[in-house]
Amino acid sequence: MFRYKTVISLCFVWQVSWCVDHNFPPNFKFGAATSSYQIEGGWDADGKGVNVWDKVVHSNPEMFCGNATGDIAADSYHKWREDVRIAAELGLQFYRFSINWVRILPTGFSNEINKAGVKYYSDLIDALLAEGIEPIVTLYHWELPAIIQDLGGWTNPLIVDWFGDYARVVYSLYADRVNTWITINEVIVICDYGYYSGIFAPNIKEPLLAPYLCNKHTMLAHAKAYRIYDTEFRPKYNGRVSIANHLIWIEPHSAKDEELATLGREYMVGRFTHAIFSKNGGWPPSIEKMMLKNSLAQGFNSFRVLAFTDEEREFVKGTADFFAMNQYTTYTIRPAKKGEVTEYVFLKALPDLNAVLEPPPHAHYGESKMMPIYPEGIRRQMVWLKKQYGDIDILITENGYSSTGQLDDYDRIDFLKKYLEQILMAIKVDKVNVVGYTVWSLIDNFEWLQGYTSKFGLYEVDFENPDKKRTPRASAHFYACVIKNRSLNDTCLNYDFGYKV
Ligand code: NOJ
Repeated sequence: MFRYKTVISLCFVWQVSWCVDHNFPPNFKFGAATSSYQIEGGWDADGKGVNVWDKVVHSNPEMFCGNATGDIAADSYHKWREDVRIAAELGLQFYRFSINWVRILPTGFSNEINKAGVKYYSDLIDALLAEGIEPIVTLYHWELPAIIQDLGGWTNPLIVDWFGDYARVVYSLYADRVNTWITINEVIVICDYGYYSGIFAPNIKEPLLAPYLCNKHTMLAHAKAYRIYDTEFRPKYNGRVSIANHLIWIEPHSAKDEELATLGREYMVGRFTHAIFSKNGGWPPSIEKMMLKNSLAQGFNSFRVLAFTDEEREFVKGTADFFAMNQYTTYTIRPAKKGEVTEYVFLKALPDLNAVLEPPPHAHYGESKMMPIYPEGIRRQMVWLKKQYGDIDILITENGYSSTGQLDDYDRIDFLKKYLEQILMAIKVDKVNVVGYTVWSLIDNFEWLQGYTSKFGLYEVDFENPDKKRTPRASAHFYACVIKNRSLNDTCLNYDFGYKV
Protein backbone atom coordinates (compact mmCIF):
# COMPACT_ATOMS: atom_id res chain seq x y z
CA MET A 1 0.00 0.00 0.00
CA PHE A 2 2.77 2.37 1.01
CA ARG A 3 4.65 1.51 -2.16
CA TYR A 4 1.61 2.12 -4.34
CA LYS A 5 1.09 5.53 -2.75
CA THR A 6 4.75 6.42 -3.21
CA VAL A 7 4.58 5.55 -6.89
CA ILE A 8 1.42 7.61 -7.34
CA SER A 9 2.95 10.64 -5.67
CA LEU A 10 6.21 10.27 -7.61
CA CYS A 11 4.11 10.27 -10.76
CA PHE A 12 2.44 13.43 -9.58
CA VAL A 13 5.66 15.22 -8.67
CA TRP A 14 8.01 14.03 -11.38
CA GLN A 15 5.44 13.40 -14.07
CA VAL A 16 7.63 10.67 -15.51
CA SER A 17 6.53 9.05 -18.70
CA TRP A 18 5.93 5.55 -17.28
CA CYS A 19 3.09 7.05 -15.26
CA VAL A 20 0.95 7.36 -18.38
CA ASP A 21 -0.19 4.56 -20.61
CA HIS A 22 1.72 4.47 -23.86
CA ASN A 23 -1.18 4.17 -26.29
CA PHE A 24 -2.07 7.00 -28.63
CA PRO A 25 -5.68 8.19 -28.65
CA PRO A 26 -7.85 6.88 -31.51
CA ASN A 27 -8.06 10.30 -33.21
CA PHE A 28 -4.26 10.79 -33.19
CA LYS A 29 -2.67 10.56 -36.67
CA PHE A 30 0.90 9.80 -37.75
CA GLY A 31 2.60 11.27 -40.78
CA ALA A 32 5.87 12.44 -42.32
CA ALA A 33 6.81 15.57 -44.24
CA THR A 34 9.01 16.94 -47.01
CA SER A 35 9.13 20.18 -48.98
CA SER A 36 9.31 20.81 -52.69
CA TYR A 37 12.69 22.52 -53.06
CA GLN A 38 14.30 20.05 -50.68
CA ILE A 39 13.29 16.87 -52.54
CA GLU A 40 11.93 17.52 -56.02
CA GLY A 41 14.85 18.58 -58.20
CA GLY A 42 13.63 19.10 -61.77
CA TRP A 43 14.50 22.74 -61.21
CA ASP A 44 14.05 23.72 -64.86
CA ALA A 45 11.84 20.84 -65.98
CA ASP A 46 8.70 21.13 -68.09
CA GLY A 47 8.07 24.87 -67.97
CA LYS A 48 8.80 25.54 -64.30
CA GLY A 49 9.73 29.16 -63.47
CA VAL A 50 12.63 30.36 -61.33
CA ASN A 51 12.41 30.96 -57.59
CA VAL A 52 14.70 32.64 -55.06
CA TRP A 53 16.38 29.37 -54.06
CA ASP A 54 17.12 28.42 -57.66
CA LYS A 55 18.76 31.82 -57.97
CA VAL A 56 20.83 31.81 -54.80
CA VAL A 57 22.26 28.28 -55.16
CA HIS A 58 23.47 29.22 -58.62
CA SER A 59 24.78 32.69 -57.84
CA ASN A 60 26.32 31.96 -54.40
CA PRO A 61 27.33 28.29 -54.42
CA GLU A 62 29.92 28.85 -51.68
CA MET A 63 27.12 29.46 -49.17
CA PHE A 64 26.16 25.78 -49.29
CA CYS A 65 28.11 22.83 -47.86
CA GLY A 66 29.82 21.11 -50.76
CA ASN A 67 28.37 23.74 -53.14
CA ALA A 68 25.16 21.73 -52.99
CA THR A 69 22.06 22.76 -54.93
CA GLY A 70 18.49 21.48 -55.06
CA ASP A 71 18.70 21.17 -58.85
CA ILE A 72 18.24 17.41 -58.66
CA ALA A 73 17.89 16.83 -54.88
CA ALA A 74 16.20 13.45 -54.27
CA ASP A 75 14.69 13.69 -57.76
CA SER A 76 11.18 13.31 -56.43
CA TYR A 77 9.94 15.14 -59.50
CA HIS A 78 10.61 11.85 -61.28
CA LYS A 79 10.60 9.40 -58.37
CA TRP A 80 7.38 10.43 -56.62
CA ARG A 81 5.79 6.99 -57.13
CA GLU A 82 8.59 5.51 -55.07
CA ASP A 83 7.97 8.09 -52.33
CA VAL A 84 4.30 7.20 -52.22
CA ARG A 85 5.27 3.53 -51.98
CA ILE A 86 7.59 4.33 -49.06
CA ALA A 87 4.89 6.34 -47.31
CA ALA A 88 2.53 3.37 -47.69
CA GLU A 89 5.21 0.95 -46.47
CA LEU A 90 5.52 3.05 -43.30
CA GLY A 91 1.76 2.98 -42.81
CA LEU A 92 1.54 6.79 -42.78
CA GLN A 93 -1.92 8.20 -42.26
CA PHE A 94 -0.91 11.46 -43.92
CA TYR A 95 1.95 12.87 -45.95
CA ARG A 96 2.76 16.57 -45.76
CA PHE A 97 4.42 17.98 -48.87
CA SER A 98 4.61 21.43 -50.41
CA ILE A 99 3.85 22.95 -53.76
CA ASN A 100 6.50 24.88 -55.61
CA TRP A 101 4.76 28.14 -56.57
CA VAL A 102 6.61 28.54 -59.90
CA ARG A 103 5.97 24.95 -60.94
CA ILE A 104 2.29 25.91 -61.09
CA LEU A 105 2.61 29.63 -61.94
CA PRO A 106 5.92 30.07 -63.82
CA THR A 107 5.67 33.86 -63.90
CA GLY A 108 4.66 33.98 -60.24
CA PHE A 109 1.30 35.47 -61.20
CA SER A 110 -1.96 33.82 -62.12
CA ASN A 111 -1.80 34.90 -65.77
CA GLU A 112 -0.07 31.67 -66.83
CA ILE A 113 -0.58 28.14 -65.55
CA ASN A 114 1.93 25.37 -66.22
CA LYS A 115 0.05 22.21 -67.15
CA ALA A 116 2.96 19.87 -66.43
CA GLY A 117 3.30 21.27 -62.90
CA VAL A 118 -0.43 20.93 -62.33
CA LYS A 119 -0.31 17.30 -63.43
CA TYR A 120 2.70 16.49 -61.25
CA TYR A 121 0.94 17.42 -57.99
CA SER A 122 -2.38 16.04 -59.19
CA ASP A 123 -0.85 12.61 -59.85
CA LEU A 124 0.91 12.69 -56.48
CA ILE A 125 -2.33 13.50 -54.66
CA ASP A 126 -4.24 10.76 -56.49
CA ALA A 127 -1.55 8.18 -55.76
CA LEU A 128 -1.54 9.06 -52.05
CA LEU A 129 -5.31 8.82 -51.85
CA ALA A 130 -5.22 5.47 -53.64
CA GLU A 131 -3.00 4.22 -50.79
CA GLY A 132 -5.34 5.66 -48.16
CA ILE A 133 -2.83 8.39 -47.21
CA GLU A 134 -4.20 11.87 -46.62
CA PRO A 135 -2.30 14.60 -48.49
CA ILE A 136 -1.55 17.65 -46.31
CA VAL A 137 -0.42 20.44 -48.59
CA THR A 138 1.76 23.43 -47.77
CA LEU A 139 1.36 26.28 -50.23
CA TYR A 140 4.61 28.03 -49.40
CA HIS A 141 7.79 26.43 -48.12
CA TRP A 142 10.08 29.35 -49.02
CA GLU A 143 10.30 29.20 -52.82
CA LEU A 144 9.28 32.74 -53.68
CA PRO A 145 9.03 33.41 -57.44
CA ALA A 146 12.20 35.33 -58.39
CA ILE A 147 10.13 38.01 -60.13
CA ILE A 148 8.15 38.71 -56.98
CA GLN A 149 11.41 39.00 -55.05
CA ASP A 150 12.66 41.52 -57.61
CA LEU A 151 9.57 43.53 -56.73
CA GLY A 152 10.46 43.55 -53.04
CA GLY A 153 9.27 40.08 -52.02
CA TRP A 154 7.79 39.91 -48.54
CA THR A 155 8.49 43.60 -47.90
CA ASN A 156 6.03 44.68 -50.62
CA PRO A 157 2.40 44.85 -49.40
CA LEU A 158 1.17 43.76 -52.86
CA ILE A 159 2.44 40.28 -52.07
CA VAL A 160 -0.67 39.76 -49.99
CA ASP A 161 -2.84 39.78 -53.13
CA TRP A 162 -0.34 37.85 -55.22
CA PHE A 163 -0.18 35.13 -52.60
CA GLY A 164 -3.98 35.11 -52.47
CA ASP A 165 -4.16 34.66 -56.26
CA TYR A 166 -1.70 31.76 -56.08
CA ALA A 167 -3.64 30.14 -53.23
CA ARG A 168 -6.90 30.43 -55.18
CA VAL A 169 -5.36 28.71 -58.21
CA VAL A 170 -4.04 25.85 -56.08
CA TYR A 171 -7.33 25.40 -54.20
CA SER A 172 -9.23 25.38 -57.50
CA LEU A 173 -6.99 22.59 -58.74
CA TYR A 174 -6.86 20.34 -55.68
CA ALA A 175 -9.39 21.30 -53.00
CA ASP A 176 -11.67 18.54 -54.26
CA ARG A 177 -9.06 16.04 -52.99
CA VAL A 178 -7.04 17.93 -50.35
CA ASN A 179 -8.71 18.68 -47.04
CA THR A 180 -5.89 20.01 -44.90
CA TRP A 181 -3.90 23.06 -45.97
CA ILE A 182 -0.92 24.87 -44.52
CA THR A 183 -0.57 28.31 -46.07
CA ILE A 184 2.98 29.28 -45.07
CA ASN A 185 5.84 27.38 -43.44
CA GLU A 186 7.92 28.97 -40.66
CA VAL A 187 7.61 32.74 -40.82
CA ILE A 188 10.59 33.15 -38.46
CA VAL A 189 12.87 31.54 -41.03
CA ILE A 190 11.41 33.45 -43.98
CA CYS A 191 11.74 36.84 -42.28
CA ASP A 192 14.62 36.51 -39.82
CA TYR A 193 16.91 34.28 -41.91
CA GLY A 194 15.85 35.83 -45.21
CA TYR A 195 15.64 39.55 -44.39
CA TYR A 196 17.26 40.13 -40.98
CA SER A 197 20.49 38.15 -40.90
CA GLY A 198 20.27 37.43 -44.62
CA ILE A 199 21.72 33.93 -44.41
CA PHE A 200 18.83 32.40 -46.41
CA ALA A 201 17.33 33.44 -49.73
CA PRO A 202 16.78 36.23 -50.66
CA ASN A 203 19.87 37.16 -48.56
CA ILE A 204 18.74 40.59 -47.48
CA LYS A 205 20.46 41.94 -44.40
CA GLU A 206 18.40 44.91 -43.27
CA PRO A 207 17.69 44.42 -39.58
CA LEU A 208 15.59 47.46 -38.78
CA LEU A 209 12.58 47.35 -41.09
CA ALA A 210 12.73 44.40 -43.48
CA PRO A 211 12.09 41.50 -41.06
CA TYR A 212 9.11 43.26 -39.49
CA LEU A 213 7.60 44.27 -42.84
CA CYS A 214 8.03 40.65 -43.88
CA ASN A 215 6.48 39.46 -40.61
CA LYS A 216 3.40 41.60 -41.03
CA HIS A 217 2.90 40.78 -44.71
CA THR A 218 3.15 37.03 -44.08
CA MET A 219 0.40 37.39 -41.47
CA LEU A 220 -1.80 39.26 -43.95
CA ALA A 221 -0.98 36.89 -46.84
CA HIS A 222 -1.83 33.89 -44.69
CA ALA A 223 -5.11 35.54 -43.70
CA LYS A 224 -5.89 36.32 -47.33
CA ALA A 225 -5.37 32.68 -48.32
CA TYR A 226 -7.46 31.55 -45.35
CA ARG A 227 -10.32 33.90 -46.19
CA ILE A 228 -10.31 32.85 -49.85
CA TYR A 229 -10.66 29.22 -48.76
CA ASP A 230 -13.29 30.15 -46.24
CA THR A 231 -15.57 31.98 -48.62
CA GLU A 232 -14.94 30.25 -51.95
CA PHE A 233 -14.04 26.65 -51.09
CA ARG A 234 -15.09 25.71 -47.57
CA PRO A 235 -18.82 25.69 -48.35
CA LYS A 236 -18.20 22.93 -50.89
CA TYR A 237 -15.27 20.98 -49.43
CA ASN A 238 -15.28 21.74 -45.71
CA GLY A 239 -11.51 21.39 -45.29
CA ARG A 240 -9.25 23.08 -42.73
CA VAL A 241 -6.49 25.66 -43.06
CA SER A 242 -3.66 26.82 -40.82
CA ILE A 243 -0.10 28.19 -40.87
CA ALA A 244 2.92 26.20 -39.63
CA ASN A 245 5.36 28.04 -37.41
CA HIS A 246 8.74 27.01 -36.03
CA LEU A 247 8.26 27.11 -32.28
CA ILE A 248 11.44 27.35 -30.26
CA TRP A 249 10.67 26.87 -26.60
CA ILE A 250 12.36 29.49 -24.39
CA GLU A 251 13.28 28.85 -20.75
CA PRO A 252 14.75 31.40 -18.33
CA HIS A 253 18.50 30.98 -17.84
CA SER A 254 17.97 31.50 -14.11
CA ALA A 255 15.02 32.38 -11.87
CA LYS A 256 15.59 36.12 -12.30
CA ASP A 257 15.16 35.82 -16.08
CA GLU A 258 11.52 34.74 -15.89
CA GLU A 259 10.19 38.07 -17.20
CA LEU A 260 12.72 38.11 -20.02
CA ALA A 261 11.68 34.55 -20.92
CA THR A 262 8.05 35.67 -21.19
CA LEU A 263 9.13 38.43 -23.57
CA GLY A 264 11.43 35.98 -25.40
CA ARG A 265 8.50 33.62 -26.03
CA GLU A 266 6.45 36.43 -27.53
CA TYR A 267 9.40 37.40 -29.70
CA MET A 268 10.27 33.89 -30.90
CA VAL A 269 6.68 32.63 -31.19
CA GLY A 270 4.06 35.34 -30.48
CA ARG A 271 5.32 37.52 -33.35
CA PHE A 272 3.97 34.85 -35.72
CA THR A 273 0.96 33.56 -33.82
CA HIS A 274 -0.57 36.32 -31.69
CA ALA A 275 -2.20 38.09 -34.65
CA ILE A 276 -3.98 34.88 -35.63
CA PHE A 277 -4.72 32.98 -32.44
CA SER A 278 -5.12 35.57 -29.65
CA LYS A 279 -8.40 37.18 -28.66
CA ASN A 280 -7.32 40.72 -29.56
CA GLY A 281 -5.09 40.02 -32.57
CA GLY A 282 -2.26 42.27 -33.76
CA TRP A 283 1.27 42.18 -32.39
CA PRO A 284 1.80 40.82 -28.87
CA PRO A 285 1.42 43.96 -26.68
CA SER A 286 4.81 43.39 -24.99
CA ILE A 287 6.54 43.27 -28.37
CA GLU A 288 4.71 46.36 -29.61
CA LYS A 289 5.81 48.24 -26.50
CA MET A 290 9.41 47.07 -26.73
CA MET A 291 9.67 47.87 -30.44
CA LEU A 292 8.25 51.37 -29.97
CA LYS A 293 10.79 52.05 -27.24
CA ASN A 294 13.63 50.69 -29.39
CA SER A 295 12.46 52.68 -32.44
CA LEU A 296 12.47 56.00 -30.55
CA ALA A 297 15.86 55.23 -28.98
CA GLN A 298 17.23 54.53 -32.47
CA GLY A 299 16.11 57.94 -33.72
CA PHE A 300 12.97 56.93 -35.61
CA ASN A 301 10.02 59.33 -35.28
CA SER A 302 7.66 56.52 -34.56
CA PHE A 303 7.16 52.79 -34.45
CA ARG A 304 9.45 51.25 -37.06
CA VAL A 305 7.38 48.07 -37.02
CA LEU A 306 4.17 48.51 -38.99
CA ALA A 307 1.21 48.59 -36.64
CA PHE A 308 -1.91 46.64 -37.56
CA THR A 309 -4.85 48.87 -38.45
CA ASP A 310 -8.15 47.87 -36.83
CA GLU A 311 -9.29 46.49 -40.13
CA GLU A 312 -6.14 44.39 -40.59
CA ARG A 313 -6.36 43.16 -37.03
CA GLU A 314 -9.88 41.85 -37.67
CA PHE A 315 -8.87 40.43 -41.04
CA VAL A 316 -6.09 38.28 -39.55
CA LYS A 317 -7.67 37.33 -36.24
CA GLY A 318 -9.14 33.83 -36.07
CA THR A 319 -7.77 32.67 -39.43
CA ALA A 320 -6.81 29.13 -38.42
CA ASP A 321 -8.82 25.97 -37.96
CA PHE A 322 -6.09 24.29 -35.90
CA PHE A 323 -2.59 25.07 -34.64
CA ALA A 324 0.24 23.72 -36.82
CA MET A 325 3.53 23.49 -34.99
CA ASN A 326 7.05 22.60 -36.09
CA GLN A 327 8.99 21.93 -32.89
CA TYR A 328 12.54 20.69 -32.58
CA THR A 329 14.37 22.51 -29.85
CA THR A 330 14.64 24.64 -26.70
CA TYR A 331 16.94 27.50 -25.67
CA THR A 332 17.46 29.46 -22.46
CA ILE A 333 17.48 33.24 -22.41
CA ARG A 334 19.47 35.75 -20.32
CA PRO A 335 20.24 39.48 -20.58
CA ALA A 336 23.29 40.25 -22.72
CA LYS A 337 26.44 41.50 -21.00
CA LYS A 338 27.70 44.91 -22.04
CA GLY A 339 28.74 44.85 -25.70
CA GLU A 340 27.99 41.15 -26.02
CA VAL A 341 25.15 41.51 -28.55
CA THR A 342 25.98 43.61 -31.55
CA GLU A 343 24.02 41.89 -34.27
CA TYR A 344 21.26 39.36 -34.71
CA VAL A 345 22.56 35.81 -34.82
CA PHE A 346 19.74 33.31 -35.08
CA LEU A 347 19.41 31.28 -31.89
CA LYS A 348 22.29 33.14 -30.27
CA ALA A 349 21.80 36.87 -30.01
CA LEU A 350 18.66 39.03 -30.11
CA PRO A 351 19.52 42.74 -30.37
CA ASP A 352 15.92 43.92 -30.01
CA LEU A 353 15.77 42.24 -26.60
CA ASN A 354 19.45 42.81 -25.80
CA ALA A 355 19.46 39.16 -24.82
CA VAL A 356 21.39 35.97 -25.45
CA LEU A 357 20.03 32.50 -26.20
CA GLU A 358 21.93 29.43 -25.10
CA PRO A 359 21.30 25.67 -25.18
CA PRO A 360 19.69 24.44 -21.94
CA PRO A 361 22.23 22.93 -19.52
CA HIS A 362 20.96 19.34 -19.78
CA ALA A 363 20.30 19.31 -23.49
CA HIS A 364 22.55 17.29 -25.74
CA TYR A 365 23.19 17.52 -29.46
CA GLY A 366 22.67 14.88 -32.10
CA GLU A 367 25.52 13.76 -34.29
CA SER A 368 25.20 16.55 -36.78
CA LYS A 369 25.15 19.14 -33.95
CA MET A 370 22.28 21.10 -35.46
CA MET A 371 19.92 21.84 -32.59
CA PRO A 372 19.94 21.06 -28.86
CA ILE A 373 17.73 18.06 -28.10
CA TYR A 374 15.33 18.77 -25.26
CA PRO A 375 12.22 16.56 -25.36
CA GLU A 376 10.53 18.23 -22.36
CA GLY A 377 10.46 21.45 -24.40
CA ILE A 378 7.81 20.17 -26.81
CA ARG A 379 5.46 19.43 -23.92
CA ARG A 380 6.06 22.77 -22.20
CA GLN A 381 5.58 24.53 -25.50
CA MET A 382 2.17 22.95 -26.00
CA VAL A 383 1.07 23.66 -22.43
CA TRP A 384 2.05 27.31 -23.03
CA LEU A 385 0.07 27.38 -26.28
CA LYS A 386 -3.00 26.04 -24.54
CA LYS A 387 -2.66 28.69 -21.86
CA GLN A 388 -2.19 31.47 -24.40
CA TYR A 389 -4.69 30.52 -27.06
CA GLY A 390 -7.12 28.05 -25.48
CA ASP A 391 -8.02 24.50 -26.25
CA ILE A 392 -7.28 24.45 -29.96
CA ASP A 393 -6.31 21.22 -31.81
CA ILE A 394 -2.55 21.04 -32.27
CA LEU A 395 -1.06 19.22 -35.23
CA ILE A 396 2.70 18.76 -34.90
CA THR A 397 3.66 19.40 -38.52
CA GLU A 398 7.41 18.75 -38.04
CA ASN A 399 9.78 17.19 -35.53
CA GLY A 400 12.90 15.21 -36.32
CA TYR A 401 16.54 14.40 -35.84
CA SER A 402 19.52 15.19 -38.00
CA SER A 403 22.25 12.54 -38.35
CA THR A 404 25.31 12.09 -40.49
CA GLY A 405 23.67 9.21 -42.26
CA GLN A 406 24.15 5.66 -40.93
CA LEU A 407 21.35 3.15 -41.49
CA ASP A 408 21.43 1.93 -37.87
CA ASP A 409 20.20 5.27 -36.62
CA TYR A 410 19.47 4.33 -33.02
CA ASP A 411 19.97 7.94 -31.95
CA ARG A 412 17.04 8.94 -34.11
CA ILE A 413 14.93 6.18 -32.57
CA ASP A 414 15.87 7.46 -29.13
CA PHE A 415 14.94 11.00 -30.19
CA LEU A 416 11.56 9.94 -31.59
CA LYS A 417 10.78 7.83 -28.54
CA LYS A 418 11.60 10.64 -26.11
CA TYR A 419 9.68 13.32 -28.00
CA LEU A 420 6.67 11.03 -28.49
CA GLU A 421 6.69 10.25 -24.77
CA GLN A 422 6.47 13.95 -23.99
CA ILE A 423 3.63 14.30 -26.47
CA LEU A 424 1.78 11.48 -24.70
CA MET A 425 2.33 13.30 -21.40
CA ALA A 426 0.92 16.50 -22.89
CA ILE A 427 -2.14 14.61 -24.08
CA LYS A 428 -2.73 12.49 -21.00
CA VAL A 429 -1.51 14.64 -18.11
CA ASP A 430 -1.94 18.19 -19.42
CA LYS A 431 -5.01 17.44 -21.55
CA VAL A 432 -3.66 19.22 -24.59
CA ASN A 433 -5.52 18.36 -27.82
CA VAL A 434 -2.64 17.02 -29.87
CA VAL A 435 -4.19 15.48 -32.96
CA GLY A 436 -1.16 14.28 -34.90
CA TYR A 437 2.57 13.99 -35.28
CA THR A 438 4.75 14.47 -38.37
CA VAL A 439 8.33 13.25 -38.69
CA TRP A 440 10.66 15.49 -40.58
CA SER A 441 11.51 13.89 -42.90
CA LEU A 442 10.27 11.02 -45.05
CA ILE A 443 13.55 10.91 -46.98
CA ASP A 444 16.96 12.62 -46.84
CA ASN A 445 16.90 15.93 -48.63
CA PHE A 446 18.59 19.25 -49.34
CA GLU A 447 18.99 20.71 -45.85
CA TRP A 448 19.43 24.33 -46.97
CA LEU A 449 22.87 25.70 -45.97
CA GLN A 450 24.00 22.22 -44.83
CA GLY A 451 23.31 20.84 -48.30
CA TYR A 452 23.31 17.04 -48.14
CA THR A 453 25.49 16.70 -45.04
CA SER A 454 22.63 16.80 -42.56
CA LYS A 455 20.33 13.79 -42.91
CA PHE A 456 16.81 13.94 -41.50
CA GLY A 457 15.31 11.01 -43.45
CA LEU A 458 13.60 7.91 -42.12
CA TYR A 459 14.83 6.66 -45.49
CA GLU A 460 18.35 7.22 -46.70
CA VAL A 461 18.74 8.68 -50.18
CA ASP A 462 21.94 7.77 -51.98
CA PHE A 463 22.72 11.14 -53.54
CA GLU A 464 25.82 9.76 -55.30
CA ASN A 465 23.71 7.26 -57.17
CA PRO A 466 22.02 8.72 -60.28
CA ASP A 467 18.99 6.64 -59.36
CA LYS A 468 18.82 8.33 -55.87
CA LYS A 469 18.09 4.97 -54.27
CA ARG A 470 15.92 5.06 -51.11
CA THR A 471 16.76 2.63 -48.24
CA PRO A 472 14.89 2.41 -44.93
CA ARG A 473 16.84 3.20 -41.78
CA ALA A 474 16.22 1.41 -38.46
CA SER A 475 14.09 4.42 -37.48
CA ALA A 476 11.75 3.71 -40.42
CA HIS A 477 11.07 0.24 -38.99
CA PHE A 478 10.60 1.72 -35.54
CA TYR A 479 8.17 4.37 -36.74
CA ALA A 480 6.21 1.85 -38.85
CA CYS A 481 5.91 -0.33 -35.75
CA VAL A 482 4.66 2.57 -33.58
CA ILE A 483 2.10 3.47 -36.23
CA LYS A 484 0.93 -0.13 -36.54
CA ASN A 485 0.61 -0.65 -32.78
CA ARG A 486 -0.52 2.93 -32.11
CA SER A 487 1.63 2.67 -29.02
CA LEU A 488 5.11 3.38 -27.69
CA ASN A 489 5.14 0.12 -25.76
CA ASP A 490 8.13 -2.20 -25.69
CA THR A 491 7.16 -4.10 -28.83
CA CYS A 492 8.66 -1.43 -31.05
CA LEU A 493 11.63 -0.70 -28.81
CA ASN A 494 12.67 -4.36 -28.84
CA TYR A 495 12.18 -4.68 -32.55
CA ASP A 496 14.57 -7.14 -34.15
CA PHE A 497 16.89 -4.50 -35.59
CA GLY A 498 18.60 -4.90 -32.22
CA TYR A 499 17.62 -1.69 -30.51
CA LYS A 500 17.08 -2.06 -26.76
CA VAL A 501 15.68 0.57 -24.41
C1 NOJ B 1 12.10 23.13 -40.66
C2 NOJ B 1 11.92 23.39 -42.10
O1 NOJ B 1 10.56 23.51 -42.38
C3 NOJ B 1 12.57 22.36 -43.02
O2 NOJ B 1 12.63 22.91 -44.28
C4 NOJ B 1 13.93 21.99 -42.48
O3 NOJ B 1 14.56 21.08 -43.33
C5 NOJ B 1 13.77 21.40 -41.10
N1 NOJ B 1 13.23 22.40 -40.23
C6 NOJ B 1 15.08 20.91 -40.47
O4 NOJ B 1 15.97 21.95 -40.34
